[in-house]
Amino acid sequence: MSNSRQFKVAVVGATGAVGEVMLSILHERGFPASEVIALASARSAGSKVKFGNHDIVVRDLATFDPSDIDIALFSAGGSVSKEYAPKFAAAGAVVIDNSSAFRNDDHVPLVVSEVNPEAARERPHGIIANPNCSTMQLMVALKPLHDAARIERINIATYQSVSGTGQKALEELGRQTANLLAFREAEPEVYPVQIAFNVIPHGGDFMDNGYTTEEMKLVWETRKILADDTILVNATVVRVPVFYGHSEAVTIETRDKLTAVRARELLEAAPGIEVVDEARGGGYPTPVTHASGKDPVYVGRIREDLSHPRGLNLWVVADNIRKGAALNAVQIAEVLVADGLPAKAAHG
Ligand code: A2P
Repeated sequence: MSNSRQFKVAVVGATGAVGEVMLSILHERGFPASEVIALASARSAGSKVKFGNHDIVVRDLATFDPSDIDIALFSAGGSVSKEYAPKFAAAGAVVIDNSSAFRNDDHVPLVVSEVNPEAARERPHGIIANPNCSTMQLMVALKPLHDAARIERINIATYQSVSGTGQKALEELGRQTANLLAFREAEPEVYPVQIAFNVIPHGGDFMDNGYTTEEMKLVWETRKILADDTILVNATVVRVPVFYGHSEAVTIETRDKLTAVRARELLEAAPGIEVVDEARGGGYPTPVTHASGKDPVYVGRIREDLSHPRGLNLWVVADNIRKGAALNAVQIAEVLVADGLPAKAAHG
């Protein structure tokens, strides 16, 4: 980035599945950081995490003084964010929070960098929320279609990888798979039932309306990001035995008719999207062949809905840890820098 200001950046949850990738993306993209500080719980204080070619020592969040920090990327769970994000913000840092703690707060913008970057400017609490991973990739894919034809209703079924649940879930899928292949028992610990060689129609907690919190995030966050409370969202969240990369089968109903040809053109011209849409075996994106470890949101299987005159089907795949979490958080930080965020004087 061509900017002479340098920022002191904290990554909270630096030892976690998302935190580690936040560190690598900050390095990869050459974020203008004078210093990057890795924070986690007392359990991992003193251990090391990678930042480019060197190791940085993890510090204990509970005893860390945030007064020098310009930008803090949080990904240590909702309760950690609730307790510490306001402290970092009060000390003058801009917090970009990957948890769900503040996403529904009217005074906290919910930002997808390609979709509503301007919303990051109004942050009365000094906190910007990073959307849920499944909403994130959905928004990137739907924004150009919404702008062109107004989306009225979204039907979505997700196929979410275990990395969205965190490090322990990655280990659980590996362990259960190895055990089952060796004719041993697969004990569920992180998920309520076996995840290896299975699919689980459950993400988050069950609510009184019969939906899960992961499903309702798709409803609430879509409306907030697209700034349209009239959009109807019908969601089913499913966890699948995939390590990295969420997939989504999406049907939209638009106010104006959108042909598959036009939708393909709009998607091909939109930022952050790669269209992979050939009607042949392998002519579509999958987590393993396309998304895992990559930045774009991949869209394929673009078809007009045979059962609805203004319906359109899409298959949307992205790396949930990168675009779905760490990458978007870093892209929000880049938006702040491009927007003239001042660095604190001592290291500016
Ligand atoms: P730690 O490794 O010290 O437990 P994941 O989502 O992959 O499970 O990662 C969660 C991240 O949040 C880890 O970096 C974890 O650090 C961090 N974390 C969890 N609880 C706390 C806490 N109370 N204070 C600071 N960091 C925490």
